[in-house]
Amino acid sequence: MMVIPSIFMPEDWSFTFFEGLNRHPDSIFKDKTVAELGCGNGWISIAIADKWLPSKVYGLDINPRAIKISWINLYLNAFDENGQPVYDNENKTLLDRVEFYESDLLSYCRDNHIELERIVGCIPQILNPNPDAMSKLITENASEEFLHSLSNYCALQKQNSV
Ligand SMILES: C[S@@+](CC[C@H](N)C(=O)[O-])C[C@H]1O[C@@H](n2cnc3c(N)ncnc32)[C@H](O)[C@@H]1O
Repeated sequence: MMVIPSIFMPEDWSFTFFEGLNRHPDSIFKDKTVAELGCGNGWISIAIADKWLPSKVYGLDINPRAIKISWINLYLNAFDENGQPVYDNENKTLLDRVEFYESDLLSYCRDNHIELERIVGCIPQILNPNPDAMSKLITENASEEFLHSLSNYCALQKQNSV
């Protein structure tokens, strides 16, 4: 999986979160329409599609560069080393099951009238406790530091809760 400096590098919190998802029965995602909030480099959305065969996973992130890297990671995982598409046991590929979009929380799904059956996300890492923060316009040209700071809310939440 590819990462770049302006996006979040998967770490312990990410892996613990995915282990938590793994504890649910397979029926939790099978054939479901799922959204992942704050998908970062896309690895969790891709892993959900690979393991549980949902009908669709929408990986959503407010960081435009995270979405570009997620699409790259999706293509890297959808084809084998000979460039051939990898089909699952329902004759679909990861490209049939996963899409990534820039979105503030669920705004992409709301604007496109997508009905979701499951929403996953490690909420302390995604919800900024500072309500003014998102009034800043997030552009493709934002600095690497600013874009990366969008995934750093855990420390802020600890400060606010003291
Ligand atoms: C800690 S990272 C987790 C990334 C990924 N899920 C993982 O575990 O590797 C949190 C992600 O939430 C995104 N994010 C922050 N605020 C968001 C918002 N309001 N809407 C959507 N995504 C947001 C950040 O850009 C960042 O990629």
